[in-house]
Amino acid sequence: MGVEALEIEALQILVESLISYKGRLVGTPAAHTYIRDKNEINIPKKANKDPLNYDQVFIRDFVPVALLFLVKGEFTIQNGKKEVAINGKEIVKNFLEVTLELHQQERSETFLNTGRVLMPASFKILKNKKGKEHLEPDFGQHAIARVTPVDSSLWWIILLRAYWKATGNTALVHQADFQEGIRLILELCFSDRFDREPTLLVPDGACMIDRRMGIYGYPLEIQVLFYAALRAADELLDRKNHNNKDILSAIQKRLGSLANHIRTEYWMDMDRLNQTYQYNVEEYGATAINKYNIYAASIPYANLDEWLPEDGGYLVGNIGPSQMDFRFFSVGNLMAIVCSLVTNDQSEKIMNLIERRHKELLGQMPFKICYPAIEDEDWRILTGCDPKNSPWSYHNGGSWPVLMWMWAAAARKLGQDAKEEEYMQFAKAAIEKAGKRLQKEEWPEYYDGKSGHLIGREARRHQTWTCAGYLLAKELMTPSGLDPLELIKFKEKTYAKN
Ligand code: GLC
Repeated sequence: MGVEALEIEALQILVESLISYKGRLVGTPAAHTYIRDKNEINIPKKANKDPLNYDQVFIRDFVPVALLFLVKGEFTIQNGKKEVAINGKEIVKNFLEVTLELHQQERSETFLNTGRVLMPASFKILKNKKGKEHLEPDFGQHAIARVTPVDSSLWWIILLRAYWKATGNTALVHQADFQEGIRLILELCFSDRFDREPTLLVPDGACMIDRRMGIYGYPLEIQVLFYAALRAADELLDRKNHNNKDILSAIQKRLGSLANHIRTEYWMDMDRLNQTYQYNVEEYGATAINKYNIYAASIPYANLDEWLPEDGGYLVGNIGPSQMDFRFFSVGNLMAIVCSLVTNDQSEKIMNLIERRHKELLGQMPFKICYPAIEDEDWRILTGCDPKNSPWSYHNGGSWPVLMWMWAAAARKLGQDAKEEEYMQFAKAAIEKAGKRLQKEEWPEYYDGKSGHLIGREARRHQTWTCAGYLLAKELMTPSGLDPLELIKFKEKTYAKN
């Protein structure tokens, strides 16, 4: 099968899996459960027998699909024997409207419980006995381990901006319900907490890693998406609407303190490693250098000293009282480049690290969700002995093809900002190679193993964000129409230090 046919197949899976609600197409489920047999009749696929919640539209999973639909716009594609016409921008609009409806629904039902103004992790369409359709959201009340989907609300704002950039539909964005939706999400982020940090304090499993993995506290992924959502909201909120006055000035303040905090406290390179190696402990007061009272014994100096290239660096996974999580988390690091949460100089260092350590971070299937895996006693304590997250599996050092689009976006952005072609050429070759394998292995959800050779033991097939992640990565490398990078990136900004 040629490259062209491979791309058509991925797009067909997305189109075939589209879910409709009251006559409108509103999204794609996490995994497509039907395939065409030789007679082109849809039949249930064995590998996807027990759908669990993979038949639901997940907000985070739909983001790459939506970005792809935005750049593809109107197109036709063969679905079985029929040719179907798709209006990508319309589907994204429907998705944004339906999810906003769920947000409002949840609020009116729990209006005294203001802590629940989040977007759901996912939703499905149910029919009553008379055949009337209704939406059933999952805010974490049904999810395995009852995890809270903090990232959904942030992705929703980021996607709304991408839709706006692609369509110029300011009328929709300025509608009272959309403006209120953005405001309420951010008010929840800004509300008083038992905490003083500019970062967001969240429970374990609040993002793409939606199982216990020792990422409670201030995980990087959430902080980066928070920053991107603040930048997006700053563009989306109508300045003429007086209800937005307070939130707009709060956004400005938070953007500066958050960016400065992440760029310094989360940053790790050789200089910083040396600095932490010399840290004093038990410092009190405003002049403290080792603010979080990190003890040298908790830092794997020997490993990092060997692993960190001289010209490389990255953002660590988490920072809290006497805690620095040294794992490399991909969503956080790649999206920090795309939304300019890190400086251009830091971005280059992250991309250098990826190139120099490609065996570990990319292996046979880009991209490791985090590195390294936690093992033995750490695995027992931090995951709660979760066999799905055993070392080098699933969230614990597994490889997720969907992350290719973020890598492609980061490489392209750096290509533009630093006039640096090398990162892009490197990503391009690896992504091409991965595509062939994905098609052969039926677009798995994730891969296992230290070098990503093994199809994930419990991986779904025909995972929609795998298909979209690959197609979007291709579009990012060589845009065929509207450039997806323009929909998702933010320009570098410096902020005065307080
Ligand atoms: C798994 C992933 C999560 C994803 C969901 C649906 O739970 O950890 O990130 O959204 O599957 O694909």
